[in-house]
Amino acid sequence: MKKIRKAAVIGGGTMGNGIAHVFSMHGITTHLVERNLELAEKALETISGNLDRMVGKEKIDATQKEETLDRIVTFTDIVKAVDEVELVVEAVSENFDLKKEVFTEIDRAAPAEAILASNTSSISITKLAAATTRADKFIGMHFFNPVPVMKLVEVVKGLQTSAATVAAIEKTARGLDKNPVVVSDYPGFVSNRVLMPMINEAIYCVYEGVAEPEEIDQVMKLGMAHPMGPLRLADFIGLDVCLDILHVLHEGFKDPKYRPCPLLVKMVEAGRLGDKTGEGFYSYD
Ligand code: 3HC
Repeated sequence: MKKIRKAAVIGGGTMGNGIAHVFSMHGITTHLVERNLELAEKALETISGNLDRMVGKEKIDATQKEETLDRIVTFTDIVKAVDEVELVVEAVSENFDLKKEVFTEIDRAAPAEAILASNTSSISITKLAAATTRADKFIGMHFFNPVPVMKLVEVVKGLQTSAATVAAIEKTARGLDKNPVVVSDYPGFVSNRVLMPMINEAIYCVYEGVAEPEEIDQVMKLGMAHPMGPLRLADFIGLDVCLDILHVLHEGFKDPKYRPCPLLVKMVEAGRLGDKTGEGFYSYD
């Protein structure tokens, strides 16, 4: 199995720009697709800032930073971006219809042997694969925020994903200096099936007045050695994203244990989504 040399990343948001950063830093020519030039420029600026952080920590030098940026080519046209690539990783918003539309386009334009991967945190890989003509070459490649820092890639095997595709993605993840963990395609996979009930329960503790967010987070940081408490983490992930994932778990398993806390629903309705809106369980500048 040969090493991936050219890949496309669709979407330059938090996850997409992190994935492009990591691919390019590990020598992969990376085609980064955004909806327009301004968004593409913004994604590059974010990557440049995160590379500066790594230069500051002496993890890479200034030349490696420039080489990494030079290997990223931005596109606004998916068809042109996926031409001649060996791997496409989709990281657009968590919306099935949007992802389906994007994959239909990618499937038509990408080389027949290219692997198609989704960074979805909760949408069924099997269902997305069915929108393409290559379900055997379709897989979940789930990265974690901040992508340049987090060591896990949750590799999600759809019902029809071939063993060769799984092996190729495991190898690619190791080449990015990440640890792949292969799981099957069920709602929330493993990561969010375990993480989201914890976050939801922490929100119930606020809702029921058991403790304030600061206290709940202190308990989990100091008592369980979590780097961030669950409410700080929920803000970091985005409360809308947490709610969407809880809906997927609740609907997928039909089990009331995944029922989103009414306080989470209200906060999302109020537009308090965490870091990205400046207000969540905490306030941010
Ligand atoms: N790019 C590059 N480097 C970065 C970075 C970025 N975007 N963000 C942080 N870093 C580096 C820093 O430079 C620093 O490097 P050092 O170890 O050499 O000093 C290191 O990461 C730690 O950062 P900070 O010192 O700024 O801050 P902290 O020590 O507080 O760590 C954190 C920040 C890494 C975010 C840590 O708090 C953490 O691990 N939090 C938990 C994150 C987590 O659980 N993520 C998963 C979310 S779930 C998800 O993504 C899946 C989805 O499906 C919901």
